[in-house]
Amino acid sequence: MKVIGINASPRKKANTQTLIEAALAGAADKGADTRLVNLRELKINGCVGCEGCKKQLGKCVQTDDLTPLLQEMTGFDAIVLGTPVYWYHVSAQFKILVDRLYSFFELGQDPQSGKPTIKSAFPGGKNVLLLVSRGDDEPAPIYGQFYKHLDEWLNIVPFALGAKNFELLHQYGAHLDRKSAANNAELLEKAKLAGAKLIQK
Ligand SMILES: Cc1cc2nc3c(=O)[nH]c(=O)nc-3n(C[C@H](O)[C@H](O)[C@H](O)COP(=O)(O)O)c2cc1C
Repeated sequence: MKVIGINASPRKKANTQTLIEAALAGAADKGADTRLVNLRELKINGCVGCEGCKKQLGKCVQTDDLTPLLQEMTGFDAIVLGTPVYWYHVSAQFKILVDRLYSFFELGQDPQSGKPTIKSAFPGGKNVLLLVSRGDDEPAPIYGQFYKHLDEWLNIVPFALGAKNFELLHQYGAHLDRKSAANNAELLEKAKLAGAKLIQK
């Protein structure tokens, strides 16, 4: 089994990366081959909406570092994604990754019923774990409704990847302490367990 972890935090070895590494360690303990990719080290561009991928579904026409990574993601059995919460949403790097998954999708219309159709060239059936680190405690001191919206939106991740099983694990109350996850043995154990589960299902 091969598991890839993709870190969308711009901060090196901070909470998101620590949680992803714990999950990958859990998977490795069960015999998986693991790989960690830090998006901050790659040159990645936002989707430009050129629709070039619709001429060759599953192939983004851009020539940055994300195009080969998207292809490589198709070959893993399980995927661990991690993002910090920025302004009640995911980081810019994470949103770019999700936007670029559009290259696998073809949106159409059923000629008979007129209903919208969605075809995906991304090989689904993978186990997916999403780790989200945020500064605020739970319940949030202000704007708690925005986090409800974020949690709803995050369901786009298993949808875009055609996940077989999906788990979402939050870190609350990290504040701006980059070592908060590293100092939270209970949370690290949860991330490790979630990583191990990826290769049992
Ligand atoms: C630009 C920016 C925006 C942030 N917005 C939020 C936010 O809306 N809610 C929150 O709880 N934390 C927010 N935070 C705090 C981070 O989510 C928190 O520090 C997280 O643990 C960072 O993950 P990292 O250590 O992996 O970088 C923000 C931090 C930054 C730098």
